[in-house]
Amino acid sequence: MAEPTAAAAALADVTPEPGVSKPDPILVVDEVRRSFGGLTAVNVDHLEIQRGAITSLIGPNGAGKTTFFNLMTGFDRPDRGTWSFNGQPLANVPAHKVARLGMVRTFQLTKALTRLSVMENMLLGATQQRGERFLSALLPTIWSAQETEIRARADELLARFNMDYMRDELGGELSGGQRKLLEMARALMVEPEMVMLDEPMAGVNPALTQSLLTHVKDLPSFGMTVLFVEHDMDVVMDISDWVIVMAQGKIISEGPPAAVAADPQVIDAYIGEDHGDESRFTPTTLATTAAASTETVGRSPVLDDHEGPATGDVSAPSDDPDGESHA
Ligand SMILES: Nc1ncnc2c1ncn2[C@@H]1O[C@H](COP(=O)(O)OP(=O)(O)OP(=O)(O)O)[C@@H](O)[C@H]1O
Ligand SMILES: [Mg+2]
Repeated sequence: MAEPTAAAAALADVTPEPGVSKPDPILVVDEVRRSFGGLTAVNVDHLEIQRGAITSLIGPNGAGKTTFFNLMTGFDRPDRGTWSFNGQPLANVPAHKVARLGMVRTFQLTKALTRLSVMENMLLGATQQRGERFLSALLPTIWSAQETEIRARADELLARFNMDYMRDELGGELSGGQRKLLEMARALMVEPEMVMLDEPMAGVNPALTQSLLTHVKDLPSFGMTVLFVEHDMDVVMDISDWVIVMAQGKIISEGPPAAVAADPQVIDAYIGEDHGDESRFTPTTLATTAAASTETVGRSPVLDDHEGPATGDVSAPSDDPDGESHA
């Protein structure tokens, strides 16, 4: 397990129980519910995310993790509930404004634009817009006053992610893992205070996984708070200062990684029900699972449907139709 970080130390005296208060929360969630038909996908009574920490959000397939990300970042609207980021209420704030306030997310399915170059993807990231049709409208802005600053930031991030040599390659020519890296680098263009990463390792080959992981671990040193959805428990144990477990939309456990791993409620949530492939949650089988899922970037269209706004939320950046589907 990793050395205790400053963030882990700050959380050392926090009681590991669902909804517990944190010493310095950046995100505070109250009574947020989201149903799809008769199914309650998210049902969070109270949740606080500690500033500067790496918090993993785990839970079986269909637990509501992606829906929770969609709600927090303005890509979907809850039926009820409130949440605030840095003390600022976010209900009804559209996604691009949420991003401007400093909270960005990546998608479980990569959204790198296939017909734009790596560099163009980065520049678009600075605007937190998605969709090539925006590019021509936005380029004049991009190239005006902030040109130097934005390009420099893109250069710096591409270098940090070892992608500078592929700056002119088209998004569509990148491997699944490279797209995941690009998406993460692009999310950082707005210099966010908090990044929400939805399975950044999924479909990434083992060589790139380590590199991605290192980048995630580095984010707090750049002043960022990380909320991270990950199924690989070895990764979760290694990277997290704190772990939150969601099952059937509710927070059923939270605490330091070791405490959560030993929580019978968590084990029940994973193996007590038929979740299809719960075996992937046991550390021993994970390496095999990760290897098997390598580069399986073409995901099911059903999952794809869960990524963006459930209904046409025109105020949010559009879910780019040119993402995965053209790959
Ligand atoms: N747009 C939608 N329309 C209908 N049902 C949805 C929609 N989005 C999510 N759901 C349902 O809500 C539940 C939570 O889904 P969600 O994608 O948030 O789970 P998850 O925890 O991210 O799962 P996974 O680990 O497989 O990514 C699931 O039962 C899912 O089928
Ligand atoms: Mg998900």
